[in-house]
Amino acid sequence: MDSKNLVTIADLSVREINELFALTAQIKGSYKNRQTDHSLAGKTVGMIFEKSSMRTRVSFEVAMTQLGGHAIYLTKQDINLGERESIKDVAAILSRYVDCVTIRTYAHETIVELANHSSVPVINALSDYTHPCQALTDLYTVKEKIGTLDGVKIAFIGDGNNNVVRSLAFLCAKLDVSVMIASPENYELPVESLELAVKSAKPSTCIEQKRNPMEVIKDADIVYTDTWVSMGREAEAETRRNDFKTYQVNGQLMASAKQGAFVMHCLPAHRGEEITDEVIDGPRSIVYDQAENRLHLQKALLKFLICGKEKE
Ligand code: CP
Ligand code: NVA
Repeated sequence: MDSKNLVTIADLSVREINELFALTAQIKGSYKNRQTDHSLAGKTVGMIFEKSSMRTRVSFEVAMTQLGGHAIYLTKQDINLGERESIKDVAAILSRYVDCVTIRTYAHETIVELANHSSVPVINALSDYTHPCQALTDLYTVKEKIGTLDGVKIAFIGDGNNNVVRSLAFLCAKLDVSVMIASPENYELPVESLELAVKSAKPSTCIEQKRNPMEVIKDADIVYTDTWVSMGREAEAETRRNDFKTYQVNGQLMASAKQGAFVMHCLPAHRGEEITDEVIDGPRSIVYDQAENRLHLQKALLKFLICGKEKE
């Protein structure tokens, strides 16, 4: 209704994303200098989780604690969204209690409906379709490591049709960062999503799909991968492990990468599947810094959405 949400990357303008990145840097700096920031004192976030989570749950909860507020963890058993009670009623009533809602679920439409009926900000904490908090953190991390996003090239190797790569493509397109995806046949980013990304990019920004990992990796500044079996796809695990076996980010593939290219993974990693120990524990890997930045970015996001709404 009247609140600002983060359901997909399209909810943020380039100016807002840049403000968010600047706020993240400031919040991270203050945190490292042990400065206290209780700007969300008295505020509460309701966190609906219908899928497993470690980073997203813990980073949002710790973010609220550090900002002087509070988070309530609500599982499927607690709310049973859409079954015990309609999404509309849950949205309306939670809006009377809490100052922001985060939701991790399967169907993206659930988040859209929740946001449509909510009068407090709703944050997508992952759906089958997108994972915008991850993409924002990822490009913030790239900017932090490289110093700029100008001219940066990202290679994504693996499942081209999942939430993480879709959000990454949407955000890269918006910020004019080139992204090349290498995935096996039948696992490409669907044409509608690719077109949506391309539409928001400058003509000079390359948003492309290829088959051969070697081809996308050779000029890349960042080599990114994610699980071959996303949550909800467990029944296809065996087929997928077979279909993706030549898409592993391993030492041999990394030998074709640019010197100094960084390796990223949203985590959780399946060591020995999409990435080897040698690479994830190697000198090019920035996965733990990337995971840490979820906390700083989401603190900025919570302040931005919750305090931003109060100003209206
Ligand atoms: N990357 C990420 O969202 O991790 P979790 O699934 O542990 O939250
Ligand atoms: N693509 C993964 C991301 C986990 C953070 C999944 O959906 O399981």
